[in-house]
Amino acid sequence: MLCSDLVAYYEMWNIPLKQQPQTKKGQNMSNKHERELAGKVALVTGGSRGIGAAIAERLAADGASVAVTYSKGADAAASVVEAIERAGGKAVAIQADAADADAVRNAVERTVTTFGRLDVLVNNAGTAIPMKVEETTLADFDRVFAVNVRGAFVATQAALKHIKSGGRIIMIGSVLGERVFLPGMAPYSATKGAIKMFTQGLARELGARGITVNNVQPGPIDTDLNPASGEWAVGQKAVVPLDRYGHTDEVAALVAFVAGPESSYINGANLTVDGGTNA
Ligand SMILES: NC(=O)c1ccc[n+]([C@@H]2O[C@H](COP(=O)([O-])OP(=O)(O)OC[C@H]3O[C@@H](n4cnc5c(N)ncnc54)[C@H](OP(=O)(O)O)[C@@H]3O)[C@@H](O)[C@H]2O)c1
Repeated sequence: MLCSDLVAYYEMWNIPLKQQPQTKKGQNMSNKHERELAGKVALVTGGSRGIGAAIAERLAADGASVAVTYSKGADAAASVVEAIERAGGKAVAIQADAADADAVRNAVERTVTTFGRLDVLVNNAGTAIPMKVEETTLADFDRVFAVNVRGAFVATQAALKHIKSGGRIIMIGSVLGERVFLPGMAPYSATKGAIKMFTQGLARELGARGITVNNVQPGPIDTDLNPASGEWAVGQKAVVPLDRYGHTDEVAALVAFVAGPESSYINGANLTVDGGTNA
């Protein structure tokens, strides 16, 4: 919205001009949030590719030192670290399968040892098993819960030893945690429904400590997990009012806002970034 449009909007709704958001002279939207996370440390699980990599790079661009975990892709994780360092930031990659509780705890400790503190935990590592319930083995079911839910629980528990008042815990849930618009996703959707309620329960528990907990729920986002091309994408695009897949940067922008100081009164919220999929 242009500045003149904004003024017209305020006038139309009789909002006194003094209530308009103030910007400093010469400040524009692109630098408004710049360096808001300076001095902060973030850990992004599953930060080597896709949504996690975009989140890691965005939080680093906003000034945070960032640790990323990965399970198998050491080269991809190293590329994220290089990109952040090339841009003048600080980053470290740590191998830690989200299903391995000791590895996840070690990743949290290594983040604190490397950067001296922990302010923001992004529980992003996730996997999916798109198949019919009758074809899903118990091993498949256990694995998707171990990575998507148990991994987030262990990382959160370990991080809470370090995160202080003003800290942020951010889950990457899914629109499928609220509404299931396609078949074959029952166990995955169940993990994201669990993440939604884990978020809300945690928010109740941690509010008194000044730590917020929120759940960012993406719709279809173009990644290796859910490529925008191919047969699998057709049914998903069909339910998105914006008629396209989202970009990883569009999820990262919301996560950056939730991680930043302006989200201080947002807590226990399920924040959807889905082009209107769940509208
Ligand atoms: N893409 C979508 O449409 C969409 C929509 C809603 C929600 N989400 C959620 O967003 C998150 C990221 O999804 P994505 O689409 O970016 O997936 P992706 O492209 O497959 O990337 C997954 C990332 O997580 C890491 N990872 C996977 N399994 C892991 C494990 N067991 N332990 C640690 N790291 C692991 C991967 O590293 P390695 O290569 O080393 O395994 C990679 O960095 C997931 O929680 C997913 O459920 C995605």
